[in-house]
Order: sequence, then C-alpha cells, then structure tokens
Amino acid sequence: MIKVTFTAPDQPRSGAVAVAVWEGGALTPAARRLEEISDGTIGRALAASPRFTGKKDEALPIVAPAGLGVSRILVVGLGKPDGLDARRLQDLGGTVFAQLNGAGETDATLDIDLGEEAAIAPAEAAAQLAYGAQLRAYRFDKYRTREKPEQKGALAQLSVATAAAEAARQAYLPLEKAAAAISFARDLVAEPANVIYPESLAAQAATLEEVGVHVEILDERAMREIGMNALLAVGQGSARPPRVVTMEWRGAPAGDGKERAPLAFIGKGVTFDTGGLSIKPAAGMEEMKWDMAGSAVVIGLMRLLAARKAKVNAVGVVGLTENMPSGTAQRPGDIVTSLSGQTIEVLNTDAEGRLVLADALWYCQDRFKPRLMIDLATLTGAVIVALGHEHAGLFANDDELAHQLIAAGNAVGEKVWRLPLAEAYDRDIDSDAADVKNIGGGRAAGSIIGAQFLQRFVKGVPWAHLDIAGVAWSKKDAPTVPKGATGFGIRLLDRCVADHYE
Ligand code: BES
Ligand code: MN
Ligand code: ZN
Repeated sequence: MIKVTFTAPDQPRSGAVAVAVWEGGALTPAARRLEEISDGTIGRALAASPRFTGKKDEALPIVAPAGLGVSRILVVGLGKPDGLDARRLQDLGGTVFAQLNGAGETDATLDIDLGEEAAIAPAEAAAQLAYGAQLRAYRFDKYRTREKPEQKGALAQLSVATAAAEAARQAYLPLEKAAAAISFARDLVAEPANVIYPESLAAQAATLEEVGVHVEILDERAMREIGMNALLAVGQGSARPPRVVTMEWRGAPAGDGKERAPLAFIGKGVTFDTGGLSIKPAAGMEEMKWDMAGSAVVIGLMRLLAARKAKVNAVGVVGLTENMPSGTAQRPGDIVTSLSGQTIEVLNTDAEGRLVLADALWYCQDRFKPRLMIDLATLTGAVIVALGHEHAGLFANDDELAHQLIAAGNAVGEKVWRLPLAEAYDRDIDSDAADVKNIGGGRAAGSIIGAQFLQRFVKGVPWAHLDIAGVAWSKKDAPTVPKGATGFGIRLLDRCVADHYE
C-alpha cells in the first residue's frame, strides 16, 4: 500500500503535481491557480497539444516547468461535469498514479479542486481519487528479487490537496480498508500453488480472527465424518489434504427477525486445477493457480466487512482442495454420495468446482440457515466464451437478489450479466446411473449447465452464483486494476451488502 495524505491546497510543493481540466479545456480552480503562478505554462501546453481535449483519462505531462520547483505537471482530463461520479474519480486517481509511477516520480500531489461544476463534494472527490490510486498501486513483486530500479514501483507517497482535508481523511478511512482487503485477496490469488494450497490458504483465512471474525477449519477427518464426499473426491488425488473454512462476522445490532440470519458467501477454492485424470492441456495450465479466486474473494470480503464493522451478520464458507491426477485420484465414472445425500456421477474430473460447491453450499445451508447465499467460482471456461472479460456471469433463483447484484456491479464497475436457469437445461444433467451427473451431454451452454448443477444443491433459499472465470485475472492494466489478480467481487458484494442489508 502507498502512503496517502490529505493536505491543504497551495502549500509549497516538490515532486510531481497533477491538475485537471474539463472536456473542452476549461481549467479547474486548482489548474487555474497553477496556471497563474507558472506564467501560463498550462495554457501553452494545452495550445501545443491539440489532441488533448480533456476527455476522461487523457493525460498531458509537462516536464520540469520553469520556476515552480516541481518535477512535472500532469494535466489530466475529467470529461464532462455531468456524470463525474465516484467511479470516474477512482479511474482518474488510478490513471494519474500509473502515469506518474511510470515516469519514475517518487512523490506526487493531486491538486484536483473541482470547483462548482462538480456534483460530488470535495472531500468525497479527494477520497475517491486516493482510493483509485491506491487500487492501481497494487503490485505482486515479492518474488522479483533482481528488479532493476526502473522496473520497481516508484511512487510511494501521494498527497491529495483539498480545502476539505479533514473530511477527506475521514471519507478515505473505509476506502483504505477496502483497498487493503482487495490487496490481501489479490495476493492470495497471485501466489503460486506451491505456496497457497488448502492448508496454507486456510491459515490465511484464520488471520481474520485478528479483525474479529470467528474462523473454524474443518480438516479431512471432520469432512469425512459429516459426509462431504463430493469435495473429498476432488481432493483424493492430491498429496495436500483439503479443508473447509467457515468465517463468521456478527455485526447486526441485537434484535430479532430475519435480519439475524446471516448473509452467506461461498467460494470455490481449488488451489490448483490440473483437471484431474480428465487432465487439461499443458499450454496455459499455470493459470489454474488462480482457480481459488472465488474463495480469496470471500475471505477478502469477510475481512472487509469486519474491518469496517459492517452492521450485518455474514458468514463465509470456502471449500479448499487441489485437483490432481494420481493413483488415488477419482476416475471418470465414479459415483459419489454428496453431503446432501444426492449421488453424483463424475463423468469429467475437470468439472470439479461444482463438486466442491455442492458440499459447501449444502453445509452452509444446513449449519447457518442463511437468509441468502451468493457463491463465487471460476467455474467454467464457457463463461469466457459467452461474456469475455467484461462481465461475470450471474445466475439467480431470485429476481430481487439478481437486480441488487446487477445494480451494485454497475455502481462499482464490477459488472455482472444475468444468464438463465431453466428446467430444460436441468434435464441435461440427469444421470442414468446416479441422481445427477457433473457435465451435460455436449458442449452447449456450459456455464448454465454448471449453474444448474449447483442449483440442485440449493434448497429454498434465495441464491445467486457468480461465475468469475473471465474476470478473476486480467491480462491488461485497467485504471484501478493492474494486470494480474483483480479481486473482482469484493467491491460488488460490499456495495450490495451496504445498500440492502445494513
Ligand atoms: N477452473 C475451470 C474453469 C476455468 C477455465 C477457469 C478457464 C478459468 C479459466 C473449471 O474447473 C473447469 O475445468 N471447467 C470445465 C468444465 C467442463 C469440463 C464441463 C471447462 O470449463 O472446460
Ligand atoms: Mn476444472
Ligand atoms: Zn476448476
């Protein structure tokens, strides 16, 4: 995490300074002040750069301006005043961070006093800018021991200049907690599978005790005793024993009624997915270290809810296992009796996430009697075919919950797109030999088939499934999400909780 401070505007400065202009070139008050004391530097730069028009995320560097003592002025575009919201300011903060960091600046001031035009309060604007920069500043570089100075992160100190510094500091506190939780989850996802495996991931989840989350870890014996045979079957080929972790946060004010029943978040935590005996091709298999992203997001979300003392009861349940081929691995054709009592014919050992979730969902309902369940899983490659990397797949048995998730996703920029569930699809997983089979008859509607399978393990509780296979990892930088592990889902679910359940 970088160090963020909030300071009064117009203090003497060194380092870099960023100021903003509206689309069309109108200067914000902060840019105007800098223009005055710099003898027209900004106006000259704008005049010399006809392609810079002040659109969102455009940036114009002015290096070593005379007489100011700053190393660089970065003029950034705000877009049009209407529609300038928290999200856009986060993106702007992220873009400014990336520009200055890439230029090797070590400390910077964002002097983005927006003036009367902006609908957003100055303190809130300042906090959102800082939040965006903090999210973009994330790096996973602990194993890069021979980085050259120019490859390292440079910008470690950011100050946001605002007339409402104290209020901005207050507004930033919960956002910094969110950034920390997201960074924690990204780290878990980015770690390789020789470091993060079921036991070590469970140990990471156990650190949530520090923030007041009650954590319990079920080991293999406990899982066998209660009959989590579907999850155990996935793990049986691995030398690393599986785990189930429960995380409980009780923040709802004392009272009665349905508000006491917890919201439940369930995560797929396959710490490495080789496919098992239905083995995956070698090319790209390394990506399957992030097949535990659903569980990392649940762990990160629980950490955030506790850190910001959310006034809600919530429980996280993650099923952690490695999917390996070996002499003890499950075979295609095996039939297992899941915790629910339903028998499953395992026709493809690479459709393992749904086996893990079948038992995790059932256990969650049985034990916690939640008021709703939301699971997150890198469940199918097919969701990438359908939606690419722009939306997560959303499935729900409850329209209200689906709408809440879509709205929350749009608000925070973690978008979800609903796909259908229907009886006709469900027929495709009827098995001749058992109650259900873990794949459909062909390649059609792969993500829906996965969701239909999960739904067989949901009984009478509002439920949503987020297939995050396309969004958990990114191959290109975005304003607030550097390439790599994204932490997709934490902001979305935190917003959904805050808007509807606190
Ligand atoms: N973890 C994979 C899904 C996945 C694929 C995630 C690519 C991220 C990127 C999952 O366990 C899997 O292997 N699914 C199979 C299901 C199939 C066998 C029905 C798939 O998508 O091919
Ligand atoms: Mn798989
Ligand atoms: Zn998988």
